[in-house]
Amino acid sequence: MPPVERFLTGITTTGTPHLGNYVGAIRPAIAASRAAGTESFYFLADYHALIKVAEPERVQRSTLEIAAAWLACGLDPDRVWFYRQSDIPEIPELTWLLTCVAAKGLLNRAHAYKAAVDRNVAEGGDPDAGVTAGLFMYPVLMAADILMFNADRVPVGRDQVQHIEMARDIGARFNHLYGAHFTLPEAAIEEHVATLPGLDGRKMSKSYDNTIPLFAPRAELRKLIAGIVTDSREPGEPKDADTSNVFQLYQAFADPDETAAMRQAYADGIGWGEAKQKLFERIDAEVGPLRERYEVLVAHPSRIEEQLRHGAAKARAIAGPLLAKLREAVGLRSLASAASAASAASTSAAASSATAALPQFKQYRESDGRFYFKLLDGDGTLLLQSVAFASPKDAGATIAALKRDADAFDRHAGSVHVVDGVDRALATDALRRLREAA
Ligand code: TRP
Repeated sequence: MPPVERFLTGITTTGTPHLGNYVGAIRPAIAASRAAGTESFYFLADYHALIKVAEPERVQRSTLEIAAAWLACGLDPDRVWFYRQSDIPEIPELTWLLTCVAAKGLLNRAHAYKAAVDRNVAEGGDPDAGVTAGLFMYPVLMAADILMFNADRVPVGRDQVQHIEMARDIGARFNHLYGAHFTLPEAAIEEHVATLPGLDGRKMSKSYDNTIPLFAPRAELRKLIAGIVTDSREPGEPKDADTSNVFQLYQAFADPDETAAMRQAYADGIGWGEAKQKLFERIDAEVGPLRERYEVLVAHPSRIEEQLRHGAAKARAIAGPLLAKLREAVGLRSLASAASAASAASTSAAASSATAALPQFKQYRESDGRFYFKLLDGDGTLLLQSVAFASPKDAGATIAALKRDADAFDRHAGSVHVVDGVDRALATDALRRLREAA
């Protein structure tokens, strides 16, 4: 079997999804996520949103709308990893580890930051006026998003390619210093995916305020389409399909036969009113059923919240263990761990502390007369705590299962829990070490 290729991309939660997002990102990403031999990671980049806007309601609303849009368009959260960036605390932690290896000079060259500085200088002001450290650090946060999951390919627009190159750079530098932990990602630019023109003919974009919301109600969709700028040719006059925004939009939704027929209609002098009506009908035929699903989803935010939490747990099952390794690699280690002992004089004490580093279950009886157990890491850190058992035999059976089966931890979720302040990944890693030692 060929190796699985892992795709990952983030969507900044600052706006409402529009037709350009749908054609340029959502639709191709969902189609790609169904391909065999791929794993897809799609996430809501809400930490990135904070760099761009300071409007809490807007960030929240956008997160809801974007999540609902992807789900309504057919993203299958059981097949992909679909999560919200801010639900993954490993990401900001990795951001710091990467910050410490990222060259400041590299970040100085990031387009968005540089453009802000250049604008200030051109206006004769302080170069850093209005520039936050968040904007400066944007590429490092993005590198953490990508490297955290060892993505191979990152589907993005051209404006983001530099960020992917920076993620490679930063990842390579980390690998050089601390060992080969990260896959170096590549941008995947969708060459054949159209960029849609907006209402005014420029590229459809939030920043030009010329968008058609993906899920505008039908009447509004019709009205917006009627307002697309055209030339002043009358009905009956032949029209050039290739320079027409209305035609380009049509083409993004139509199949090749429909497109060819419409091209002919332009040559035959179709009126703009009729061309726009056909465009409206064609878009509504595709988007209408999705809009119905979207409206139901948006009306039930708690269901989406639940989906995202589920997605976060799935993502953290990958992020947690990797981050534990990275902490170890950079030297954020337990002082009692084998590595620190090994670097001390190689005495027999050091050798025995290497064995002592295995985690241990401790069974005990409380003054309530009932039976308990806990799991301590090799350094004595308390990781797991059981509930009360009626007999030592019951407690022992649970311990035996935890030592034996990788999935016992989930099955016994009701009788044993990770103690407060401890990362679940640490506990699962301790159980894995115990199984391997057995
Ligand atoms: N910066 C990206 C954008 O504005 C969004 C994003 C955040 C992203 N993190 C990412 C894209 C990681 C790809 C991979 O479009």
